[in-house]
Amino acid sequence: MASISISLTLIFTLTTLAHSDSSPPSLTPIEQHSVYTILASINPRIDWHSLYPDDADLCDSGPHGLVCDLFTDPKTNRPSLHVTELALGFVSDSSPNPPCSPNASLSATFLAPLKYLKSSSSTAASPTPPALFGSFGSFGGFKRLRKLVLIGSGVSGGIGDWVGELVEMEQMRISRNRLDGVVSGEIGQLRRLRVLDLSFNFFDGTVPESIGGLSKLLKLDLGSNRFVGRIPESFVGLTNLVFMDLSRNRFSANCGIPLFLAEMQSLKEVYLSGNPLGGQIPEIWKNLGGILGIGFSGMGLVGNIPGSMGVFLRNLSYLSLENNRLEGECQRSLGC
Ligand SMILES: *[C@@H]1O[C@H](CO)[C@@H](O)[C@H](O)[C@H]1NC(C)=O
Ligand SMILES: *[C@@H]1O[C@H](CO)[C@@H](O)[C@H](O)[C@H]1NC(C)=O
Repeated sequence: MASISISLTLIFTLTTLAHSDSSPPSLTPIEQHSVYTILASINPRIDWHSLYPDDADLCDSGPHGLVCDLFTDPKTNRPSLHVTELALGFVSDSSPNPPCSPNASLSATFLAPLKYLKSSSSTAASPTPPALFGSFGSFGGFKRLRKLVLIGSGVSGGIGDWVGELVEMEQMRISRNRLDGVVSGEIGQLRRLRVLDLSFNFFDGTVPESIGGLSKLLKLDLGSNRFVGRIPESFVGLTNLVFMDLSRNRFSANCGIPLFLAEMQSLKEVYLSGNPLGGQIPEIWKNLGGILGIGFSGMGLVGNIPGSMGVFLRNLSYLSLENNRLEGECQRSLGC
């Protein structure tokens, strides 16, 4: 065993010598410092410097959740190491990310030097107390960020015009925080977005029409906020959307369930509960046979439950219509 590992080490050393004219690349002192600052801010009780004494340790055997990638400078051809992913707090029992302390805080300024960051996540599972406090601030500098997961923390602030710079973003999941204010229409610049989850925050104002231009979107969850006004007609452009949850907001200006749902033929789940849209349930179900779940409770709906729902929605497994003023006989085809 010993001789095998020695020869492996030798081979490694020889290849390293053959392929580079200097020492192996390491994190720049600025990025290294930034990582220690972040670790210290999420959990000041852990002596991170003793646990992971230098930058080689930070990237090679540093905390789980920290991922570095090798880049090659196109001019000098020299390799360099950069932090590309950062995951903090509880993810699962098998992913021991750096644990957040109850008074953890994270500010975008700490992350700013990590220009190569592609993915950043932080989650706190209940019953853990909120893991991160502080301001959401501006993530606009992270032009390479593809995935932002910041769930169940105490982060405050809003989504300003800076969001338009995150053009690589594919998943933005920032539910269950203390985020508020009007969502900037610049969010429509995130053309690669597939998942947008802003649920369980305090966002208000109208929903930007520009979200309707995010044609790659598969999941849109704006549930449990304070959005008002119309559900944008532009959503008809979300031709790939599978999941749409707008429930528990204050949408009221549409006068009834939006008819454009009829054209969103990829939809499998649609939840509008708790918005005072009123009106009757429209006859829009002909092309929506793929729908599995509908939540239309507490919407002030009146009139009959259309028989066409039972005819076309053959795969429906969840239907919630309580707390309305619907009347008439419930169709046998809907399981009554
Ligand atoms: C968090 O708590 C620890 C001790 O429990 C304390 O040393 C540290 O200063 C606190 N950090 C903040 C940001 O309040
Ligand atoms: C209903 O479900 C079946 C079985 O999963 C599937 O084959 C079928 O395509 C679904 N119907 C629609 C209209 O999506």
